[in-house]
Amino acid sequence: MVSSRIPGLHRLDRTERIRRLRDEGWLSDTEARSLADGGALDAALADKIVENAIGVYGLPLGVAANFRVNDRDYLIPMAIEEPSVVASSSHAARIVRAAGGFAATSTGRLMVGQVQLLDVPDPEAAEHALRHHAEDLIELANSLHSAMVQRGGGARGIEVHHVGAQGGQAMLVLHLLVDTRDAMGANTINTMVEAIAPAAESLSGGRACLRILSNYTDNCLAQASCTIRPDLLTTGDYDGPEVMDGIIEAARLAECDMHRAVTHNKGVMNGVDAVLIATGNDWRAIEAAAHAYASRHGRYGSMTTWRKDQEGNLVGTLELPMPVGIVGGSIGLNPGTRVAHALLDVASAEELAQVIVAVGLAQNLAALKALVTHGIQRGHMALQARSVALMAGASPEQVDRVAQELVKSGDIAVRRARELLAGPA
Ligand code: MEV
Repeated sequence: MVSSRIPGLHRLDRTERIRRLRDEGWLSDTEARSLADGGALDAALADKIVENAIGVYGLPLGVAANFRVNDRDYLIPMAIEEPSVVASSSHAARIVRAAGGFAATSTGRLMVGQVQLLDVPDPEAAEHALRHHAEDLIELANSLHSAMVQRGGGARGIEVHHVGAQGGQAMLVLHLLVDTRDAMGANTINTMVEAIAPAAESLSGGRACLRILSNYTDNCLAQASCTIRPDLLTTGDYDGPEVMDGIIEAARLAECDMHRAVTHNKGVMNGVDAVLIATGNDWRAIEAAAHAYASRHGRYGSMTTWRKDQEGNLVGTLELPMPVGIVGGSIGLNPGTRVAHALLDVASAEELAQVIVAVGLAQNLAALKALVTHGIQRGHMALQARSVALMAGASPEQVDRVAQELVKSGDIAVRRARELLAGPA
């Protein structure tokens, strides 16, 4: 097995880093060459993907090291502009790796397409008719997507929900449950619900209004957990048990306070979104679902839990809706996305979902550990200084020197960076 523990990776320059990943078997020659050339989407292709294209918007693509999930090593591609996220993911993954790695699972892979039915004269009779003809509706939906059915997916069932009256008239929502296999399947689901809407109208006697997938994907969940011996949390200035207790106390605030929960969860999504973007997934859909899922008990709460088990270990868990795809959509068009998938080398969308929740949990662990020890700014400042140096006009060769000087001076400002670049007055 190729190891994701690559000591010194962060000290290499970009060219050496790409070479090292190729030499260690993470990248093919073609992928390494594509990265060496910048790995960006071609502007002419961008013009075919969205309307009124005028360019290509770039983001740094980093790799987080040290991840082990379900006894397999992963290098994690992360597309993100925020300094410290890649480093802190790698840091937390190294701790969890020493504790045996992340355990991850997934439950279900069913997406929902909705048909809103208005002006239904007899809602109970309509529900009965829709349920009675469920197989016909499913067959009709599947007849449009034989390729998906051949891959073992397709529409699986229906549900009928009475969602209240509107203007005095009953409203029904027909849910079509679809297994999209390794695709996120938004287009498939939308085609299916549009196709079955006329049949749903005649069965219910109502009028179909919205016909669209639901991004609330609580039938497509992934879970990650880790169990960490407290001594693995020891830092130069803090004992492991002290850090563990701090993490548990900090996590409690996120469980009962909305202001903290949003920030806590934002940290989780730092990791999740960066992988979603790198792998060409619809991160807006998963952001929306994740925050709704964090409110499923009627109040917005923490996405993660951190507790002590009976042996005195720290146990962290995260469960999120994770309807990712590894085929379809724009996956495959973007060279960066192709490299990201090559690095991850997952066999299924479920495997990708499991890896992503592990990254979210790692990111949360890293943030909490920093917050309850030396605070977030120390690590941030060193990395922020690099952005400031770049903003001041430092060349890639000058960045590290100027950043170090900025941190040493305690004045991390563009003005100071310009002075340093100009040299002694
Ligand atoms: C910063 O992008 C994310 C954090 O604020 C998350 C947290 O506070 O848990 C550090």
